[in-house]
Amino acid sequence: MNRLTTLGEFIVKKQADFPYAKGEFSSLLSAIRLAAKIMNSQINKAGLVDDILGSAGQENIQGEEQKKLDIYANELFVNALKARNQVCGIASEEEEKLIIFENEAGIQGKYVVLIDPIDGSSNIEVNVSIGTIFSIYRRISPEGTPAVREDFLQPGRQQVAAGYIIYGSSTMLVFTSGNGVNGFTYDPSIGVFFLSHPNMQMPKSGNIYSVNEGNYRYFSRQVKSFIEYCKSDINPSGRPFTGRYIGSMIADLHRTFLKGGIYMYPDSSVAPDGKLRLLYECNPIAFLIEQAGGRASDGKTLILDLEPSEIHQRTPFYGGSEELVLKLEAMLQ
Ligand code: AHG
Ligand code: MN
Ligand code: MN
Repeated sequence: MNRLTTLGEFIVKKQADFPYAKGEFSSLLSAIRLAAKIMNSQINKAGLVDDILGSAGQENIQGEEQKKLDIYANELFVNALKARNQVCGIASEEEEKLIIFENEAGIQGKYVVLIDPIDGSSNIEVNVSIGTIFSIYRRISPEGTPAVREDFLQPGRQQVAAGYIIYGSSTMLVFTSGNGVNGFTYDPSIGVFFLSHPNMQMPKSGNIYSVNEGNYRYFSRQVKSFIEYCKSDINPSGRPFTGRYIGSMIADLHRTFLKGGIYMYPDSSVAPDGKLRLLYECNPIAFLIEQAGGRASDGKTLILDLEPSEIHQRTPFYGGSEELVLKLEAMLQ
């Protein structure tokens, strides 16, 4: 690994690429970096301390069981972002309502952040990789007024930055501000993220397919055909694709960034819009995928071109190597 460039140095050097005021971007990213370090230390203690593992005994707005770590991570990221004064509001998977920030001096902050504080909650207890996903927009409402819903309901194409943190065999922070994708690996012994994956490029094709095949019977005929294609010996690699499904979108996509392939969460007869949330799961990942040379769509429309209507709306999602996503789109027609 190149231990010469830290995340902090990288942000300072690259902030000229950011289309808005320079200090704002570095301030936002450093809030996320700080929260990521705290998360890393907490997750590594999971199993040793009681207040990290297990259910919180309540459900979120999606009707999903909240884990203690979901709630902990949500508070951590919200407070870290709040402390920087760049953000006027946050939408979170774990919060039904928007969080609108104000302070004594007036209402400030030019950005809104949308987050999935813990992606892959069901994997916490079994020591499998989990993540955090974030998406950043410039507000469209006037500065000095409270943020409004429309600030959060912008198409993914309007994102100014997006990224994820993966807490895996090592902890990594991967992000884009619209000028390529860069990955940083955390060295916990000195508390520093180093640039380890500069200018990440997704392979144009691949031979890994990733889908919860337990839902096969509920998928459309076309999605079933694509899965059969992946498993057949007529695909371009000349042998059946390898199946991999971790069940943390971030972990499955991180592998797809590095090795290529396709990740799918289709709509089905029991989940007509699929499962994944457009604003804080699919949009940030789609921004990263396009920036790395891949493709992400709902089967018909590029994810980044979808017009959001609800904060917690779901969408079918197909993302990964361009060639495979195009093949799938052709089969869905
Ligand atoms: P979250 O933990 O934020 O609710 O997200 C879980 C998502 C995603 O990470 C993963 O790919 C998918 O749910 C797994 O769902 P299934 O168990 O239905 O396959
Ligand atoms: Mn998630
Ligand atoms: Mn989550």
